[in-house]
Amino acid sequence: MPFPMMFDPGDRSPFALTTPLYYVNDLPHIGSAYTTIAADVVARFHRLTGRPVLLITGTDEHGQKILRTAQERGVDPQTHCDQIAAGFMALWQTLNIAYDRFSRTTDPRHEVIVQEFFQRVWERGDIYKGQQQGWYCVACEEFKEERDLLPQHRCPIHTNKAVEWRDEENYFFRLSNYQDRLEQFYADQPQFIQPETRRNEVLNFVKQGLQDFSISRVNLEWGFPVPNDPDHTLYVWFDALLGYVTALQDPTEPPSLAGAIAQWWPINLHLIGKDILRFHAVYWPAMLMSAGLPLPGQVFGHGFLTKDGHKMGKSQGNTLDPVALVDRYGADAVRYYFLKEIEFGKDGDFNETRFIHVLNADLANDLGNLLNRTLNMAGRYCGGKVPTIDQAAIPADHPLKTMGQQLGSIVETAYGQLAFSRACTAILALAQASNKFLDEAAPWTLYKQGRQAETETVLYTVLESVRLAAYLLSPVIPQISTAIYQQLGFNVDLNQKTIGDLLPYKDHAAWGGLPPGQALGKAQPVFQRLELGPEAI
Ligand code: MSP
Repeated sequence: MPFPMMFDPGDRSPFALTTPLYYVNDLPHIGSAYTTIAADVVARFHRLTGRPVLLITGTDEHGQKILRTAQERGVDPQTHCDQIAAGFMALWQTLNIAYDRFSRTTDPRHEVIVQEFFQRVWERGDIYKGQQQGWYCVACEEFKEERDLLPQHRCPIHTNKAVEWRDEENYFFRLSNYQDRLEQFYADQPQFIQPETRRNEVLNFVKQGLQDFSISRVNLEWGFPVPNDPDHTLYVWFDALLGYVTALQDPTEPPSLAGAIAQWWPINLHLIGKDILRFHAVYWPAMLMSAGLPLPGQVFGHGFLTKDGHKMGKSQGNTLDPVALVDRYGADAVRYYFLKEIEFGKDGDFNETRFIHVLNADLANDLGNLLNRTLNMAGRYCGGKVPTIDQAAIPADHPLKTMGQQLGSIVETAYGQLAFSRACTAILALAQASNKFLDEAAPWTLYKQGRQAETETVLYTVLESVRLAAYLLSPVIPQISTAIYQQLGFNVDLNQKTIGDLLPYKDHAAWGGLPPGQALGKAQPVFQRLELGPEAI
């Protein structure tokens, strides 16, 4: 079973990963942007190593919540979904998300897959009709236990929303049948739920005993009808999780379950936020077991973002609009901040002053200025070319070479474990060490003293460090990395999905990949220093 915890750069097996399929009750928020940026970074890293990758994102468009939102806006639900889904696609474009499939659950192709899957589970005897009574949170699209509710029957997640009492006939999925098999599966595949804290949450939940859950609704037209019982529509989560499967199939092929799972199944990685862990780590594997399908490699539940230390929400009036953020600061800056500053898996905070400080320190100074001044020196002292030195003659204990030789494997492991912050910090450390080295080695003095060979060695080692840092950071800041590569004389766009073929990973992730004698480009700032805007974002 492939899973990303043990990264093997020689692995050429296909790698499929997903973001959640986002609800279209509203425009994309920063939480959706956060998961999607992380997923894009994982996808880009695997593409860098030459692995075939399929990055799936999309929208979850059925259910009561969406229907009500459309009604409140006075538009028919499909038009509403089309408009919001277009908003998601536009944001992904500005955030430079290189997804491969956009799965929309109202796509008629999806209905075919859902029906076939339902049939399989039905034939397995895992679906029955029963009476559902309980408190339903429309915002979560989930029944809640009375003991979990806040006073006045408010939802613990949507604290400003009251849950609604339901007493209706529903179809149920026999989750209770899967208690033992799920527990066995979690024990056999400890990497399945990550990070560890989330895994423990799930194990504790399952230990309390699993109850069957309803998979249909009555009196709700906005959904797929239950096969052979059109008075019922399928529960939005049953339909939504299967959106991952539908997305796998080549869109030009006629839809079928067998066709959908032929190439990329099982999905290697589902990236989600911690609030939807139970659906992905408990309900989903049980549904798949029932349908006789192999199970995904890993579910990783990341933390929640806060703003200036406070929970974000419309009712709190402190949402962070991802579109405004990207418009003001650019895609690479936003991507870098969230991945470098927040340990993936833990909750993290956005604060604009900190944002500006981090970007100026890391990208404008440590990396950008370093490249700029070294390129200028190479222009003056080495005829605008990468110094033509004998790389093998650089001593093994040269501080940058030593760091550079170890960096590839440190960063591989970090990306493989989704420890993005660790990857960025390790890469930045090379840039910081290079700045220090440059100041101490003072090539401008060496040059004046006529010590040409030493001057060239210093400049080579620094330029090579910048190259290596740019390459390894390219999954996070693809535009800046491309600008750096081009100024170093490579005629390449690191955004291309075929990047693994264009730049062989084993050469570029290793120390010494900068070809001596290569003509350098013109030095231009790769990242403009940021200033705090007149109004807080
Ligand atoms: N439609 C379901 C997912 C179905 S997947 C088959 C859904 N959609 S959602 O739009 O409400 O949530 C999408 C993601 O945004 C979730 O992973 C959620 O954890 C994440 N976030 C919502 N608010 C967030 C923050 N404040 N911070 C970080 N992520 C948060 O759930």
